[in-house]
Amino acid sequence: MENIRIVLPEIENIHEIETYISNGGFKAAKKAFSQTPGEIIDQVKKSGLRGRGGAAFSAGLKWSFMPKSTDKPKYLCVNGDESEPGSFKDREVFEKNPHQLIEGTLITCYAIGAKTAYIYIRGEYHKWIKLMQKALDDAYAKGFVGEKMKETFGTDFYCDIYIHKGAGAYICGEESSLMNSIEGKRGYPRVKPPFPAQNGLWGNPTTINNVETIANVPKIIENGWEWYANIGVQKHPGTILYGISGHVNKPGVYELPTGILLTELIFDVAGGVPGNKKIKMVIPGGSSMPPLRGDQLEGVRMDAESLKEAGSAIGTAGVMVMDEDTDILKVLARITKFYYHESCGQCTPCREGTGWMLKTLNRMIEGNATSRDLDLLIEVANNIEGNTICALGDAAAWPVKFTIQRFRDELEQYVKPEVELPIYNKVHSMRETTVPLGVNKR
Ligand SMILES: Cc1cc2nc3c(=O)[nH]c(=O)nc-3n(C[C@H](O)[C@H](O)[C@H](O)COP(=O)(O)O)c2cc1C
Ligand code: SF4
Repeated sequence: MENIRIVLPEIENIHEIETYISNGGFKAAKKAFSQTPGEIIDQVKKSGLRGRGGAAFSAGLKWSFMPKSTDKPKYLCVNGDESEPGSFKDREVFEKNPHQLIEGTLITCYAIGAKTAYIYIRGEYHKWIKLMQKALDDAYAKGFVGEKMKETFGTDFYCDIYIHKGAGAYICGEESSLMNSIEGKRGYPRVKPPFPAQNGLWGNPTTINNVETIANVPKIIENGWEWYANIGVQKHPGTILYGISGHVNKPGVYELPTGILLTELIFDVAGGVPGNKKIKMVIPGGSSMPPLRGDQLEGVRMDAESLKEAGSAIGTAGVMVMDEDTDILKVLARITKFYYHESCGQCTPCREGTGWMLKTLNRMIEGNATSRDLDLLIEVANNIEGNTICALGDAAAWPVKFTIQRFRDELEQYVKPEVELPIYNKVHSMRETTVPLGVNKR
């Protein structure tokens, strides 16, 4: 296993600005400012860096969507909302290498022509907000951020960075509701198009990238795009901060190249399953990604393409391991409760469908469901998927749909055979499954 660290180097006290500087910190920014923004975008594109916030979209390509000739101010939002269950890797960056994130933010602002960046941090991350603010204050004091940058780097370019604290809503991690939240509005996702590069913060061109994505940038500029492109797998290069939780002996965040075998990650890196129990289920990318059965793990690699082939997705690489004693129904109901609670309520399929799925799952737990309820759950999930303003709908639908598909045998044990009901009772039982309007909305 290649021991390569890009985002979380093994250097003591690298979170302190003096240590960061003495280890070559802010040299990549200087190097970037001596080139044109177009050249920087080109290098990041060629490096193959893909977003670490869930969709694995090419970072360089996203930056190239920003309009070049416009009088409007441009913005960068660095997404550290990190509220997906099973995902806890961005806080490692805030704590252990905040200056590399700041340097990446400077370089990205330069590449896209932004003079203002917001680092949006999950509201519950009190400790990490403080740590990040301290690092930012130190960088300002040393002249690495703000107008003093002109003198420090000998350039005309400068930009300001602000930390924006979330207020405890998972939906504010979705890029368009994140922008509404920064604008001081309710965290409702916006209908797309228009996309943020055209119409983002206060109607101006905006790029949104995940914390880990941005933290990779200084090393790409420092070492060259070829160096980066050769780490891990070709179509999804670099390292990933894998966050492993659940039934493993050594849960935690591990930085390793893309494409590592999922089994290697669980058994060699995270120390295997306590009591050597069998694995029943693994969710490889945060709670919204399709789960894999324990017998589907062999040969599966942790990168966007391989996981797609295996019937799941890389998401945030938050790997949740569940052993043979896990009650799959309870897990599914808990995940569904989360999305039901976090749905912003704008679109009917998500607002009503999440509640409907939760009610049906609870009926299964209570022992009052029939076999038709499993098909009903899939039907509701299919009606949510792809029919909503933002991807929270899919995030709620996928666990239900794929868990039933992959664990049907086990779930069948919780349902009674369907009996033919008189017409009146059938209509009544359907009504019973609907959630009263407005129940879950803030
Ligand atoms: C409901 C929802 C929540 C999200 N939460 C986050 C989050 O906490 N952090 C994040 O980086 N991306 C999150 N995303 C994805 C963002 O919308 C966006 O795609 C991402 O920040 C882009 O960064 P990247 O291209 O660097 O991955 C979320 C998406 C949805 C639909
Ligand atoms: S999909 Fe759900 S969370 Fe997203 S906009 Fe619609 S109701 Fe809100």
